[in-house]
Amino acid sequence: MDLTVAGNRAELAAARRPGTYALVPTMGALHDGHRSLIRLAHEQANHVIVSVFVNPLQFGPGEDFGRYPRTFDHDLEVCGEEGVSVVFAPAVEDMYLPDRQVSVSAGAMGTVAEGAFRPGHFDGVLTVVLKLFNLTRPDVAVFGQKDAQQLALIRRMVADLDVPVTIVAGQTVREPDGLALSSRNRYLSADDRATALYLSKALRAGAANPHRAKEAAKAVLEEAARLKPPLLLDYLTLADPATFDEVPAGHRGEAILAVAAKVGTTRLIDNVVVTV
Ligand code: PAJ
Repeated sequence: MDLTVAGNRAELAAARRPGTYALVPTMGALHDGHRSLIRLAHEQANHVIVSVFVNPLQFGPGEDFGRYPRTFDHDLEVCGEEGVSVVFAPAVEDMYLPDRQVSVSAGAMGTVAEGAFRPGHFDGVLTVVLKLFNLTRPDVAVFGQKDAQQLALIRRMVADLDVPVTIVAGQTVREPDGLALSSRNRYLSADDRATALYLSKALRAGAANPHRAKEAAKAVLEEAARLKPPLLLDYLTLADPATFDEVPAGHRGEAILAVAAKVGTTRLIDNVVVTV
């Protein structure tokens, strides 16, 4: 089946075929993590839509909106190979009215962990994701566990606002050495990459020591802070999977060990689910 590229609601409507739809929202620069979500999406519905949109609303003033990798021809190739029906790639002007007023608030959960370092980020994510749902009207939408707080907030939005879509989560895809795939990995020099490996190394140490997960991860991150270039930690948290608040000491059950750090000028995040 041919791949259709749509840029607005009318083009999406013209491409619509009978059957169920699964949406995979992305910002492009597609890698094997995105491919795995597309494959998972095929298991959920008759047709798969991939959206490719670098959403200005979710980038803060000093962040990398301008230099975020844009590889649209490559993205179309990937979508063609993966049997995607429609790539929805709107222009910024077609997504946001100049006089727009109304947006989605992520609430308190948008201000902790990743939200504490990126004010407004999750409001921007939820606003665009709700718009993408309204434009593409999917039965199912697929998101990666790699962005665990984003996934939790999207589930929260769907529950709180009665959004008629089923959310499905895909496992984090990693390089053989453990580094989680990310569109931002292409910014890493060889030395940066060697330091960046300590993120997943720390999470593995945490997962291997469930009763002192945070301490075990912290020890590895402290080692990485002494490397050249150093790993500059933003946060390490053992978080409640539903609220992303730090779990209280002595908590037993499922938790998310999540980390964010800068290596050189690149900011990376990663997480693992642990049962503590
Ligand atoms: P982006 O970073 O392009 O990620 C798109 C989807 O791919 C997200 O659901 C993310 O969790 C998933 N993903 C990223 N790396 C992955 C990996 N290594 N393994 C598995 N899945 C991975 O997340 C966004 O875009 C945006 O915030 C978006 C939801 C599109 C809203 O703008």
